[in-house]
Amino acid sequence: MFKCRDEVSTLPPYELGGAFAEEMKKYGVARVVKLNSNEGPYPPFPAAIEAMQKAAASSNRYPDPSSHAVRLALAEKYSVPAESIAIGPGSVMLIRALMEVAINPGDEVIIPWPSFPPYLLATHIMGGRIRKVPLVDHTHDLPAMLAAITDKTKVIVICNPNNPTSTIITKSALDDYFEKVPAHILTILDEAYIDYIQDKDCPDGLDYLQIGKPVAVLRTFSKIYGLAGLRVGYGFTSPELAETLRRVQEGFPVSHVAQAAALASLERGDLVAERARLNAEGLAYFAAEFDKLGLSYAKPFANFAFVDVRQDAREMFQKLMRQGVLVRPGATYDSPTYERVTVGTPEENEIFIGALKKALEM
Ligand SMILES: Cc1ncc(COP(=O)(O)O)c(C=O)c1O
Repeated sequence: MFKCRDEVSTLPPYELGGAFAEEMKKYGVARVVKLNSNEGPYPPFPAAIEAMQKAAASSNRYPDPSSHAVRLALAEKYSVPAESIAIGPGSVMLIRALMEVAINPGDEVIIPWPSFPPYLLATHIMGGRIRKVPLVDHTHDLPAMLAAITDKTKVIVICNPNNPTSTIITKSALDDYFEKVPAHILTILDEAYIDYIQDKDCPDGLDYLQIGKPVAVLRTFSKIYGLAGLRVGYGFTSPELAETLRRVQEGFPVSHVAQAAALASLERGDLVAERARLNAEGLAYFAAEFDKLGLSYAKPFANFAFVDVRQDAREMFQKLMRQGVLVRPGATYDSPTYERVTVGTPEENEIFIGALKKALEM
C-alpha cells in the first residue's frame, strides 16, 4: 500500500478556519465579525482593484515568473537591489522555500514559542528538528535562543512583531543578537506585521541585511494592503539566496492578477499610513477596555492583541462565536486561557468588546 513520507504522515490534522458558518447559522447569527485570522479589515486599495480588473483580461497567459515589476518597485521603495528580493505566493510559502533550501534531515531550527505555527510545519516536513525556546513576558528570549544553538543548528526564526502575542523586540536586543549569532546560521526574520508598527524602538530587519548579516527578512501584502486572498509575500536576502529561492519555487509562483494588485498597492504609502493609524487606535481601544475589565494582555504592536480571558479559551470562543464574533483560541499556542483577537474596523472592535463583556458574565 502507498505510504506517505514519515514526516508527512505524522502531521497533525489541519483545522479548517472557515468551518464555523453552519454552527453560527444554528445560533441565528446575522453578521459575522471575523477577527480570527489577522487579516486587514479593509478591502484592497481602489487602484489595486482596478489593476486586478485590468489584469484579469489577460489570464490566458502565464504570469511573469520572477514578478519583475514588483521586485523593481520594492527595490526602489526599500533601497535594496532587486536581485536580493524573492516574491512568493504568500510569505508563508517563502518560509517553506527557505526551509527547503536550508534543512537537511536532522538539522535543527530554533523557533520562539508560542509563535507562528507554520515555522514548525515547514521544519517538520523537511525532517528538521524543532527546538522551541519559550517566550519570556510574551517576548522573544534572544539570549536563550542563542544559548540553544548546537552544532546542528541551521536556522533561527524570529517573528517581529510576534504572532500570536503582538509584542516587539527592541532594536538593542536584536543588535545584540546579530552581533553574536554565528555566520553559518540563517536567521529568518518574519516581519509580516511591520507595516503596522509606529514604535521608533522597533528594529528594521533590512538594517541587518545591509550590514551583511545572513538573514531573510519576510514581509507580506496580506495584512495592511488588504490582499490576503491574493497570496503575495516578499523576502529580502542575499542575491545568492534570493536566486536559490527562485529556483526551488514553482515556475510561476504568483499570478499576474496578484502581481498587478501588489504593484498598484505599493504606490499608496499615504493609505498605508492611514491604516496604521486606525490600527493603533484599535489597539489602544482594546487595551483600555481590557484594563477596565481587569484582563491582562501582552502589550500589542501588530494588528491583533493577545488577552488572558481567565477561563478556557475554547469555551470563551464558543460564547463569542454564538454572538457572531470569531477570535483565535490560545490552545494552538499552548496558551489555554488566551484569545488572539484581530483589530477590525472601529465598529467591529466595539462589537467584539460588547460580546466579550457579555461572554465574561455567562
Ligand atoms: C507571522 C506571520 N508570518 C507570515 C504570515 C503569512 O502571511 P502570508 O499571507 O503572506 O502568507 C502570517 C499570517 O498570518 C503571520 O502571522
